[in-house]
Amino acid sequence: MRIEISNSYDELSRKTADFIVNFINKKPDSILSFAAGNTPEKTFEYLVQYAREGKVDFSKCKFIGLDEWVGLGKEDEGSCKHFMHAKLFEPLSINPSNTIFFDACAKDLESECKRVDSFIEQNGPIDLMLVGLGMNGHIGFNEPGTPFDLYSHTVDLDDVTKEVGKKYFKKHMKLEKGITLGLRHLMNAKTAILIVSESKKAPVVKKVVEGDVTPEIPGSIIKIHSNGFLFLDRDAASMLSAPNK
Ligand code: F6R
Repeated sequence: MRIEISNSYDELSRKTADFIVNFINKKPDSILSFAAGNTPEKTFEYLVQYAREGKVDFSKCKFIGLDEWVGLGKEDEGSCKHFMHAKLFEPLSINPSNTIFFDACAKDLESECKRVDSFIEQNGPIDLMLVGLGMNGHIGFNEPGTPFDLYSHTVDLDDVTKEVGKKYFKKHMKLEKGITLGLRHLMNAKTAILIVSESKKAPVVKKVVEGDVTPEIPGSIIKIHSNGFLFLDRDAASMLSAPNK
């Protein structure tokens, strides 16, 4: 794993976007899976800007949704799908046929997992995953304790995720379950970036970097990825011991 520490959230976002642009320019038909949420928001802004400036073309890429709150869809403000469409796909005019998402409103969620897994099996592996880190160390909705060898699955959300997740919604939502790509997809991805900002994440970043590789801290898996990157801003890195900085 390579750690890169940026001086600010803006620099972190710009460097992450630069990395993605270089990646796509080398492989324009990349299969991508990006997290929703606050952390990648500015990276997406840069990606949209770069695309408008003609520095990158996403039209041949395929985007696989990382995760979703069970029961929510594209029309629900705060859902992952809503976020990805609003912040990335619509500004980039991505053809909907190039996006593959779990239908988290489906009755048969197991079939949804199988459908997305089959797509990845037939078209993958995923070239590049950009994932965020939960306050509890989760990646996607791979909550603490999730085995590293799972593909897509549904999950009973951790209490921390239910509490923190309220920030995405204007109205009260009952957040109980999630559907997510598994950590095996992350391990199989050719390149994986874990992006983390803000001082509130500094304690969990310290666990990721200086603790054991363990399912109790799913983010720690980035240390055993064959091409894993941990991109931090100074605040997220603020509790790391000097040799890691
Ligand atoms: C969202 C996702 C989550 C977030 C994580 C950090 O699609 O996969 O794992 O990446 O909860 O969220 P933020 O960036 O909002 O702090």
